[in-house]
Amino acid sequence: MLVSSSQRLIFSTPEAVANAVADLIIKVVQEKPSATLGLATGGTMEPVYARLVTAFKHGEISFSAVTSFNLDEYAELPPEHPGSYRSTMNALLFDHVDIDKSRTFLPEANGSEPDKSGARYEDMIAAAGGIDLQLLGIGRNGHIGFNEPGSARDSRTRLVNLHTDTLEANARFFADRPVPRSAMTMGIGTIMSARKIALVATGASKTDAIHRATQGGFQADCPASALQDHGQVTWFLDTAAAGLQRAA
Ligand code: GLP
Repeated sequence: MLVSSSQRLIFSTPEAVANAVADLIIKVVQEKPSATLGLATGGTMEPVYARLVTAFKHGEISFSAVTSFNLDEYAELPPEHPGSYRSTMNALLFDHVDIDKSRTFLPEANGSEPDKSGARYEDMIAAAGGIDLQLLGIGRNGHIGFNEPGSARDSRTRLVNLHTDTLEANARFFADRPVPRSAMTMGIGTIMSARKIALVATGASKTDAIHRATQGGFQADCPASALQDHGQVTWFLDTAAAGLQRAA
């Protein structure tokens, strides 16, 4: 029998959400310094990484034995481009802490054989012992990683096309060119294999996605709803994303 320890934590501000998520990461790494972390990008994660950098500077956490795997990476973009998730992770976290960059991995999105690159990423995660804690944001359309609506529940790391809504939502990260139209992403099945998951959502633009993700069982038009079947998910929400009125 699966005993679920999933829970929903609701905070009054996005800052409080970010602090609580960072505190969880700090705890996981303090308990297991060689933890394997699944990392995510997106504006929601920026204050989480800022808090982790501060915690590192104060000696509260060391990443020296940590291995990380990011959820996804854009195709059609060199890793050096500022909009790539490699550049984003370097700028927000990796350049400011003691992580060994040779143990920070993102999917290889520009290879000539994407199927093989995807399978290799899965093998690398397995060889690292699986993911101890997977961080997740959520798209306005309910995507997790870049698993857009319609993604199979057992999908694994693969090349995908991005939906128009995602291209629109992410345009703010690209000043000099359009958002790439495809990306390599861990699958829903890959994400579900993580031992623990922290899904983070803030702001009213996520209310509908959170509503659909947290009730009614799995629906293919809301990939995040698969998480209802994972027994170790913590939903870190602010009152807006949770659909509650903020107290006056
Ligand atoms: C991108 C990422 C997702 C992330 C989502 C939400 O599409 N691939 O992993 O969850 O954005 O981003 P934001 O936090 O900016 O709303």
